[in-house]
Amino acid sequence: MSEVRVRTAVFPVAGLGTRFLPATKATPKEMLPIVDKPLVQYAVEEAVRAGAELLVFVTSRTKNAISDHFDRSYELERALEDRGDREKLALLESIVPESVHCVYIRQSHPLGLGHAIACAAPILGKDPFYVLLADDLLYGEEESGALLETMKAIHARTAGPVLALESVEESEVSRYGIVDPEAVDDRTVRVRRLQEKPRMGEAYSRLGVIGRYLLTFEVLEALQGLEPGVGGEIQLTDALSRAIARAPLHGTVFDGRRFDCGSKIGYLQACVEYGLTHDEVREEFRDYLGEKLRFLVDPKRR
Ligand code: G1P
Repeated sequence: MSEVRVRTAVFPVAGLGTRFLPATKATPKEMLPIVDKPLVQYAVEEAVRAGAELLVFVTSRTKNAISDHFDRSYELERALEDRGDREKLALLESIVPESVHCVYIRQSHPLGLGHAIACAAPILGKDPFYVLLADDLLYGEEESGALLETMKAIHARTAGPVLALESVEESEVSRYGIVDPEAVDDRTVRVRRLQEKPRMGEAYSRLGVIGRYLLTFEVLEALQGLEPGVGGEIQLTDALSRAIARAPLHGTVFDGRRFDCGSKIGYLQACVEYGLTHDEVREEFRDYLGEKLRFLVDPKRR
């Protein structure tokens, strides 16, 4: 098996986030915090753990808060230095390690995920790269780190692109890219075909694509000249379908927990889970939830 390094991670962060209005009118949805860390930072940490050294953010006019977040903040640093607050200074420094570089590309038209990736193509070259959709939050360090590593190992064997998959409810297939799978082993499938957001009852399977991809140059080529698909957008799913003729496509089934933080319920669940393990608040929060639960079970106990 050849040694493969995946040095680049792409973060498509230009979406409008309309499901979270009014919160996302002036604040990018990727900057919504889970306890005290914005969603996009969780995704960045995951990519850096998997070895990414170049982070490419495909952003838009209203997303400056993201580039500000990964930049220095001299005023804040100065104020913390004056106060001698080493702990908070270290926290700011740890947002991105010094060896990691960030690049920002503007997606000037909201033409979808495939279009966002195509915007990054001029700096991607021919090497494989990860794509992380920050609103899919993968719970737990080992789980999420292991997923990108697993995808890299599959790519090392197959030389083709690799998708992260999850078994989704029948009623939810219309929210995902869906694959037609052929089993390779317990967790790995070869993908014969894909469809973007099929109607219930028309899906090839219940295996949905979640927001982690390892893509190759064949996919970038397939994006060239691609016509808009579902929803009038340039769909990554369509480029992946096209690329199958040139490179085998595989998927790995993620067995950890994922929170769809693009939905209100997924976001709330993530806040609860992360609150319950957060060093500073977990005990107080657990007590509060315990109380709340007792009240929900027996409202008279208030
Ligand atoms: C995108 C993709 C879809 C994939 C999903 C994962 O859809 O088009 O194939 O299943 O991400 O989160 P979106 O959620 O941007 O509508």
